[in-house]
Order: sequence, then C-alpha cells, then structure tokens
Amino acid sequence: TERTLILLKPDAVQRSLRGEILRRIEAKGYGIVALAQRTATAEELSSHYAEHEGKPFYQPLVDYMGSAPLVAIVAEGEKVIEGFRSLAGATNPTSAAPGTIRGDLGREWDLPVIQNLVHGSDSPESAAREIAIWFPEVG
Ligand code: GTP
Ligand code: MG
Repeated sequence: TERTLILLKPDAVQRSLRGEILRRIEAKGYGIVALAQRTATAEELSSHYAEHEGKPFYQPLVDYMGSAPLVAIVAEGEKVIEGFRSLAGATNPTSAAPGTIRGDLGREWDLPVIQNLVHGSDSPESAAREIAIWFPEVG
C-alpha cells in the first residue's frame, strides 16, 4: 500500500470545505494516517515548494499558503498518489473537470496565485519527501 501527503490549503479551511473534501477522500476508501491543522512555517513552505523557487508565482504561493491555517494529512491506500490527484482534478479550477474537488468547489479569483483548495504529492519520491516535512514523526 502507498501513502501520500495532502494539504487542505488555507482557502479550503476558510471556506469551511474541510468536511466536504475529507468526505470525498474517505468515500474513495483511503485511510487517514495522520491529520493536523496548523499555520505553516516559512521553513516548511520553502522546503515543500523548493521545485517552484524562481517561478513568478512562487512568492504569492508561499504567502498564500502561510497566510492562515491549513490541514496536513497523510492518506494511504492502493495507488493513493495517483488516485488523489485524480480526485483533486487539474491545477486550474476553471478547467478542472466537474466531479473533481477543484472542478466542483474551486474557481478562479483575480489573485496573483491560483487558489485551488488542495495539494497532493505527485510521485512516490515527492510523497516521502513531503511526509517527512509535515510529519517527521510519521515513518
Ligand atoms: P499542488 O498539488 O498544489 O502541488 O498542485 P499541482 O501539482 O497541480 O500544481 P504545481 O505543483 O504545478 O503548482 C503548485 C501550486 O502553485 C498550484 O497548486 C497553484 O496554487 C500554484 N500555481 C501553479 N501554477 C501556477 C501558475 O501558472 N500561475 C499561478 N498564479 N499559480 C500557479
Ligand atoms: Mg504539485
């Protein structure tokens, strides 16, 4: 079985969509291994988003992610990495398919960063790296 790192981003918390998003994760049959709500530190975010450093949306992204509490989750299940990315939908909520978290619940706002409710690890290597950042105590 496989594990992934999911973030319910600050817009999901502020819009009271935690329950709706968790419902979709649980309804799919994935297990919740760890879950914590907190405001991310600058260290966690620079490490989490290292691959995007230097891109024009990097600073707005880090500012948004650190602006208010988020919920970090370790979920597990067969093919959960790909499966959660599929549940989440495309990065841009305008083009994300209906039926997905971003397609059903997200939309674009006139903001310097795309606020799209959730993050999910994109590979087993990313999942291991990101779980170590957010939950160093979870093996
Ligand atoms: P995550 O699961 O959040 O990592 O989304 P992703 O893998 O679909 O997107 P990616 O890792 O490429 O980008 C990380 C985050 O940066 C996205 O979720 C958006 O919030 C933001 N972002 C990505 N691309 C753009 C862009 O072209 N413009 C803007 N403004 N924001 C972007
Ligand atoms: Mg990504």
